[in-house]
Amino acid sequence: MKGTVHYEVKKFCAILTIDNPPVNPLSSGVRQGLFDLIERAQQDEQIGTIIITGAGNSFIAGADISEFSGKMEGAPLPAVLNRMESSTKPIIAAINGSALGGGLETALCCDYRICNQQALFGLPEVKLGLLPGAGGTQRLPRLIGAEAALDIMLSARHVKPSEALTLGIIDAVAEDDLMEAAFAFAEDLKNREYPLRKIRDLSEHQQQDKNKPGIFDAARRLAEKTARGQRAPGWIIECVEAAVNIDDFDKGIAKEAENFFKCFKSSQRKALIHVFFNERNAAKIPDIPKETPRRDIKKAAVIGAGTMGGGIAMCFANAGIEVTLLDADQEGLDKGLAKIQKNYELSLAKGKLKQSSYEQRLSLIKSSLDYQELADADVIIEAVFENLALKKKIFEQLDSVAKSGAILATNTSALNIDEIAQVTSRPEDVIGMHFFSPANVMPLLEVVRGAETAKGVIATAMSLGKKLKKVSVLAGNCPGFIGNRMLFKYMEQASQLLLEGALPQDIDGALQEFGMAMGPFAMHDLVGLDLGWRERKKSGQSRDIDKVADALCEAERFGQKNGRGFYRYDENSRQPIPDDIVTSTIEKVASELGIERRSISSDEIVQRCIYALINEGAKILEESIAIRSSDIDIIYIYGYGFPAYRGGPMFYGDKVGAKQLIEDFTALEEQTGQTWEAANLIKQLAEQDGSLTKWQRTSV
Ligand code: 3HC
Ligand code: NAI
Repeated sequence: MKGTVHYEVKKFCAILTIDNPPVNPLSSGVRQGLFDLIERAQQDEQIGTIIITGAGNSFIAGADISEFSGKMEGAPLPAVLNRMESSTKPIIAAINGSALGGGLETALCCDYRICNQQALFGLPEVKLGLLPGAGGTQRLPRLIGAEAALDIMLSARHVKPSEALTLGIIDAVAEDDLMEAAFAFAEDLKNREYPLRKIRDLSEHQQQDKNKPGIFDAARRLAEKTARGQRAPGWIIECVEAAVNIDDFDKGIAKEAENFFKCFKSSQRKALIHVFFNERNAAKIPDIPKETPRRDIKKAAVIGAGTMGGGIAMCFANAGIEVTLLDADQEGLDKGLAKIQKNYELSLAKGKLKQSSYEQRLSLIKSSLDYQELADADVIIEAVFENLALKKKIFEQLDSVAKSGAILATNTSALNIDEIAQVTSRPEDVIGMHFFSPANVMPLLEVVRGAETAKGVIATAMSLGKKLKKVSVLAGNCPGFIGNRMLFKYMEQASQLLLEGALPQDIDGALQEFGMAMGPFAMHDLVGLDLGWRERKKSGQSRDIDKVADALCEAERFGQKNGRGFYRYDENSRQPIPDDIVTSTIEKVASELGIERRSISSDEIVQRCIYALINEGAKILEESIAIRSSDIDIIYIYGYGFPAYRGGPMFYGDKVGAKQLIEDFTALEEQTGQTWEAANLIKQLAEQDGSLTKWQRTSV
């Protein structure tokens, strides 16, 4: 069995220490250990009080998620918690770190809870497509009220000790040593007449909440907005309603068990657990050992104070790293700095940032027009216009000023990293660090490995991403890397559908209904139509699928930046409004191209756009541009708004199955007259009955 619990007697207390590194989940050995040792403490006459704590820096990180796919050994969690709750000796939870999910639920079955300053509380099961299934939906509302409990469960947020104390989740925060404080608490309990405090017996909040039915409608409205398409939030709300409306605690627990089972069986739960583990797997690069030495990053520099450069500089400042922002001229620099200041002021005004952090972050951002001032930077990220000649010129300059050992990174969205590296005398120090817009908000960093990039540089860039609070994924070097290379194919399908008969709002609507955070044409409006149009005019090359965007640009419709593109926008609003002029433009372009428009279903839209992603993703795997198919999933979820509850495009592709994909591609060829050639990998998997999600390379 996995994990153990140690038993130690000190004074009149039995100390049960959960030991299951690194985060002490409730694995089989932990559950069995708790069950047996609570029993032992009950029988032990010298024991007056039981204290439960965790070894290392975590209390209990929740149920062991890795056990969900196999056969469960050891005592079931409900049996352990029942044993705790029926203890005749008081139990104190001495919470020394994360008490999440089943961890907090275990603490809620103790009579008292105290913690140290490092503790964190939460019921984040919703992020795994689950609900708190060990009494959390019934006990937390009884302890702190339904509204606060719903907020914690639906947001999955981590609550710090001071807030936990105010809410009433805990009874005390230890000022110094946690175990000393636990003993003192136990001593104090000895002097009380009725020391046992079982949450199941509390009813004050429950009675008050019966008069506030509006909180459930409000929670449903919020969940619809923030967790569109997800099933677990609705089931959580139902359970909390039961906690308020059903006086019999055990009947409430039965409702929780019923809904937990629904969650457990759902495909969303499987997809979200795939995301949980593979977000962490993305950091593991088979040919770069964990112990590869990292370079020290104390000072950073960013070249280009535009949309991306400003956001990247904010990421460094937010992580407490000094950063120098450089632009071609004072005007560009001033504009960039003003935008950064405005962003921070907005956070300050919304109460998301304290005055002291606001000042500290701004003071970490320096500015310069002089490359010499970048000489002591440990990492320099270039974020100037997407132009290879310009980027090469900048890297030549960097090569002459950057100190030896500095990492030279480019934020290019699609250009060849090796061509950029070749203009320097140190291609081993050159790497792609592709942030997503807005860089200070979006959680993804696509790290791009050049042919000569040193392993230490890759390891440092991946760790730096974590420090900047990003999920880092490694990609190989090819036009568009992983994310944008797939996006090109997705956009091609969307643009083709536009010519064949669908309107922007049909395509965006269908894909949003599928779960995408934003439709392709609303996204195109956000990025701006003019960049591509200018490039096409310069090169004299425009494909049929570009003709609608070209026509819109000719009519000065550049997207959100001037209030009209594939949609129109009211002043100060980002809400896309369908526009008849766009419809007539599309119809005119289609007719000029000799395309007879037809009615296109939402299913066809989703199938063609998502299949385009899957097929290109499979080619990316074949070519070793991604290490594993789950890396592609993580990129699409965190960088492109693919619904996490569908597991990412490759996970979704596996659900369809390689054989079915090929059959559907053939049907699409017949229906559309387009070529739908399956990637070799999909053909191979179809023959072997293989799985995309199991596909893994040793390197990119
Ligand atoms: N079960 C199994 N493994 C877990 C785990 C869990 N609950 N939580 C974390 N791990 C593993 C990770 O996969 C990782 O393994 P790896 O090193 O092999 O990749 C390792 O522990 C360390 O995790 P992190 O890299 O995430 O460590 P951090 O220090 O960054 O974060 C944490 C620690 C905040 C505890 C974070 O791991 C976390 O959020 N864990 C999940 C918490 C959670 O969702 N709990 C609810 C579980 S479901 C439940 O309890 C159901 C119940 O209601 C019945
Ligand atoms: P931008 O046009 O907003 O900013 C570019 C900045 O670079 C401007 O401030 C400009 O003055 C400055 N600049 C130009 N030449 C310079 C030089 N010689 N020296 C110093 N500064 C110079 O561009 P944006 O959108 O920030 O893009 C920058 C890079 O990031 C591009 O390579 C782009 O492909 C990439 N990128 C863009 C994303 C986006 O959504 N905008 C997303 C991810 C990557």
